[in-house]
Amino acid sequence: MNDNNTDKKKSQDRLLDIMNNLLRIIALLVAGIIILPLIVFYKEDVYTFFKKNDKNSDNLSLQISTETKQTTSTETFWSAANIENITDEKLKAEVTYGKELIMHTAKYLGPKGSVLKISNGMNCQNCHLDAGTKTFGNNYGSVASLYPKFRARSGKEENIYKRVNDCFERSLNGKALDTLGKEMQAIKAYITYIGSNVKKGEKAKGAGFKDLAFLNRAANPGNGKTVYVAKCQSCHQPNGEGTLNPEGTEYAFPPLWGKNSYNDGAGLYRLSNFAKYVKNNMPLGVTHDNTQLTDEEAWDLAAFVNTQSRPHKNTPKDWPDIAKKPVDHPFGPYADKFPEQQHKLGPFQPIVDFQKSMSKK
Ligand code: HEC
Ligand code: HEC
Repeated sequence: MNDNNTDKKKSQDRLLDIMNNLLRIIALLVAGIIILPLIVFYKEDVYTFFKKNDKNSDNLSLQISTETKQTTSTETFWSAANIENITDEKLKAEVTYGKELIMHTAKYLGPKGSVLKISNGMNCQNCHLDAGTKTFGNNYGSVASLYPKFRARSGKEENIYKRVNDCFERSLNGKALDTLGKEMQAIKAYITYIGSNVKKGEKAKGAGFKDLAFLNRAANPGNGKTVYVAKCQSCHQPNGEGTLNPEGTEYAFPPLWGKNSYNDGAGLYRLSNFAKYVKNNMPLGVTHDNTQLTDEEAWDLAAFVNTQSRPHKNTPKDWPDIAKKPVDHPFGPYADKFPEQQHKLGPFQPIVDFQKSMSKK
């Protein structure tokens, strides 16, 4: 009887043992199911956790952190200093007015300007996109940092006032602004402020134009016309005259040639400047990292547009040292034997090579 009882007790104990073990296994399984996905999803956290506790895992963490750097580090271009950060209210108002003048120049200073009537109806922003802040959209990133500077076109040191008035007299085919007037002061304040985050003497990344390779032939106005009709005419119009906004105060689509366009002393009249601008910014909406035109189309368009008629500017004082003329300056005399036609439309590489061989001698 006793034996029988102890046997029963033994088998009961064994059963309890088995159940205990089963419970432990289930608990482990449940824990595993919960923790495993955590390890998978929060791998880096777990690694850094271990890193804190185990110096040997340093290498592993290092690998992870460089990996994330690589994927996030794309080229960084200049971006304008934020006007909202200006605390001096007077300066903020002046800078804001300057920006307004860059964006809507014609409204204040065009043929129907509310302040003065001194320019052709174009806005600075037509060529200096996004109020002069767009990457490779002819932006003002390096103006505050690099001016005053020597410019070979005038043969003089130029300050910001002189450079701004150059564009008034050439790109806007108009008259110079009074340097001390409210408008010029505001434009200068704006350009200076947005470039205030660039170190003095340094060039902002993505400022001005992006380089474009020369063609190994002369640019072809006939090809350019075909591209113009297909890709530009819908906005800039069949005769390049553009269209005004409904109020007639400024252009919805600015003119590319004709009496209301930039004159032949303007920067855009140089083939390379036009081709670089258009390649990285047109048709409207295009950016330097998402272009639509081939290099050939950009050069041929430049040749077509810049062989149409436009206002002429007498510039007898330009390029006092003719050897400093850019290869694509379209007016002689030159310090070389290449004809005016080749300086206007190319091919430019032979001229570059000749100039290099001369400077070596
Ligand atoms: C038709 C196009 C066009 C318009 C409109 C225009 N510009 Fe320009 N601007 C240019 C081009 C092109 C250059 C560069 C020329 C070069 O480097 O040869 C330039 C250069 C400049 C520069 C010097 C930039 C630098 O980094 O050196 C300043 C400043 C400037 N423009 C201000 C203005 C202002 C202010 C207005 C409006 C009053 C204006 N521009 C209107 C085409 C234009
Ligand atoms: C969808 C309309 C549209 C198309 C298409 C277009 N543009 Fe423009 N273009 C504009 C606008 C708008 C501006 C002025 C941008 C601003 O003020 O912000 C401009 C500015 C310009 C300028 C500088 C200002 C001037 O008038 O000189 C040039 C040069 C230019 N475009 C050339 C071209 C060429 C070449 C093509 C064809 C490849 C083209 N555009 C296609 C809308 C267009």
